[in-house]
Amino acid sequence: MARDPRHDVLFEPVRLGPVTARNRFYQVPHCNGMGVQYPSAMAAMRGVKAEGGWAVICTEECDFHVTGDVSPAIEARLWSAKDVPILARMADAVHRHGSLAGCELVYGGAAGHNRQSREIPMAPSATPVFGPEPGQARAMDKEDIRNFRRWHRQAALRARDAGFDIVYVYAAHNLCLMQHFISRRYNRRTDEYGGSIENRTRLMREVIEDTKEAVGATMAVAVRFAVDELAGPDAITHDGDGAAVVELLAELPDLWDVNISEWDNDSQTARFAEEGYQEDFIGFVKSKTSKPVIGVGRYTSADRMVSLVNKGVLDMIGAARPSIADPFLPKKIEEGRIEDIRECIGCNICVSGDWMHMPMRCTQNPTKGEEWRRGWHPEKIEPKASDASVLIVGAGPAGLECARALGQRGYRVTLAEAATELGGHLNRVSGLPGLASWARVRDYRTGQIQTMSNVEVFLDSRLDAAQVREFGFDHVAIATGSAWRGDGVGRAHHNPIPGAEQAHVVTPDDVIAGVELEGPVVIYDDDDYFMASVLAEKLRGEGHEVIYLTPEVDVANWTHNTMEQSRIQARLLELGVDIHASRKLTSIGPDNVELACAYTGRTSALDAGSVVLVTMRLPDDALYRELMADDAALKAAGVASVTRIGDCLAPGLIAAAVYGGHKFARELDADLPSNDEVPFRREVMGLSNDWPVV
Ligand SMILES: Cc1cc2nc3c(=O)[nH]c(=O)nc-3n(C[C@H](O)[C@H](O)[C@H](O)COP(=O)(O)O)c2cc1C
Ligand code: SF4
Repeated sequence: MARDPRHDVLFEPVRLGPVTARNRFYQVPHCNGMGVQYPSAMAAMRGVKAEGGWAVICTEECDFHVTGDVSPAIEARLWSAKDVPILARMADAVHRHGSLAGCELVYGGAAGHNRQSREIPMAPSATPVFGPEPGQARAMDKEDIRNFRRWHRQAALRARDAGFDIVYVYAAHNLCLMQHFISRRYNRRTDEYGGSIENRTRLMREVIEDTKEAVGATMAVAVRFAVDELAGPDAITHDGDGAAVVELLAELPDLWDVNISEWDNDSQTARFAEEGYQEDFIGFVKSKTSKPVIGVGRYTSADRMVSLVNKGVLDMIGAARPSIADPFLPKKIEEGRIEDIRECIGCNICVSGDWMHMPMRCTQNPTKGEEWRRGWHPEKIEPKASDASVLIVGAGPAGLECARALGQRGYRVTLAEAATELGGHLNRVSGLPGLASWARVRDYRTGQIQTMSNVEVFLDSRLDAAQVREFGFDHVAIATGSAWRGDGVGRAHHNPIPGAEQAHVVTPDDVIAGVELEGPVVIYDDDDYFMASVLAEKLRGEGHEVIYLTPEVDVANWTHNTMEQSRIQARLLELGVDIHASRKLTSIGPDNVELACAYTGRTSALDAGSVVLVTMRLPDDALYRELMADDAALKAAGVASVTRIGDCLAPGLIAAAVYGGHKFARELDADLPSNDEVPFRREVMGLSNDWPVV
């Protein structure tokens, strides 16, 4: 297919100091939970994106000195020459596909706790380290500043030795020293590095100059700068200090990569922000500099990207999440295959990997993090290894992905769905407040399946075991999903909650189906993810009085990992939801509920007209059990395997369901190791020869 000529502008090269990007697609720095601990996995993940057409591929944060150690976050590292080969592997993977590699040097300062090195963190002025940790950073003296500049310079040289084309001077996310110098909130110095904005920008200016002097002949020097901290007039604002910094340093770097701070403001989810949510803040930057400007905002629409370039807002389209969800997004635009783009849904499951110090996952892209480990390519897949036919029962996230990937392999696939439309629980969830974009998980897959002549879809087709056997498929994948449990059993309760059997006690499935509720409605969240909070929003929107109970210390506790928790809590408070945290629901009466303090066990009561229990889900695996109950009949029907996938096996994240469906498709007819073996590649740390020491 030919590219839409309107998109041509996106494929123009852009000069970045001494190097040239082949188009306008720029993968901004993003961590991935692999970094220094899973180096080949990280390198392969970046290489795949270069193959997918991103002209620039950056590392994640890369700490470069023991006094600026960002552990336990798993990031890149350039403490010494010993670290160079790891990053050289990434640069090499990127270069192999004709892209430029960028390295984002970070020095955590007060935002890093130096947990590995145990060195004392440093800041412009003495301040508690960020986060709930009983330590402080000490104020830097002039020698510290000289040291810092030298360390940064040495790191830039190491980045050059690793083969990078771009090196960053980083002042964003409130995660690094140079931003702390600029922000009045942390800089209370009275010397030439404090006071006026010129003075607070001094260190950044010096570091840019040092870096240019050290490596600028061959590498572009990028600045990543948060033009607004969204923290009021005392902080950096885009019409105050943010604009002043860009003006003061305008022509010094080779490119400006601008955004808003902190990280939760920069990487907002679709529940709280639309595509392009940073434009009001970063829009001014191009008027202050002639250097290329890169910006972000969950951009997945090619038309919008074109308009940003044409309107003079951005020169290159920065992306973290869109490049995670679809590493081939640029190539698909280039080839006029817009409908093949797997658009990011804005859920931040990718971000949760970083917070939990594990390799990143992505809801839309099940191959994320598996590029090297399992050899999974986001666009390519092994052709079928037999003429086997596969029946998939259930077209939710697992069934749809399974059908799509098996179809891509060339198998004959039949997808049978009991409902009258494809999507399973994605249809229900995406109708809830703020979650419309989650339907992209369904839409991408249904779009792909429609083009596959070897995938047949049957709607309104609830199958029983006899029908499944009658069809005589070689393999059957059961993806019949799950249903919310109605008796209160879950994390906090190992037995049913007394009173849960009453008619006014309902589940999220009932609420979504439109059950009539009496107020006040008590929502009991023992699930900790999004569901209870979106139901609270929905019911407040419908005019109900809503009481939110949770045994956790705050609402939707797990969403700290998606950086949504504080926004969710604020939204519920603003909507007038009555929140009772650290409370277990101990019994349900006809018109009230009894609670117990999660710490003391002290009880209290609240009026309740209806109770919604959001605790756990049960697999909807009746068909599977029915089939497995008659092994002889299965054999007689010629069915070689029956497998549960997705929520039907174990309810969890949509990302886990998509992954489960994909894994089944990848592994069909594959020569797999026994389950006594580790099923993927891994790197084991090299032991030092310096042993024994004591
Ligand atoms: C999983 C994840 C990790 C990130 N890690 C970094 C990082 O290491 N350094 C950085 O400057 N920005 C980091 N970011 C922020 C992104 O670079 C980007 O500015 C932000 O996500 C908004 O862009 P997007 O909407 O295209 O995702 C990260 C974002 C995500 C989603
Ligand atoms: S996990 Fe969600 S937010 Fe992150 S890239 Fe994938 S779809 Fe986008």
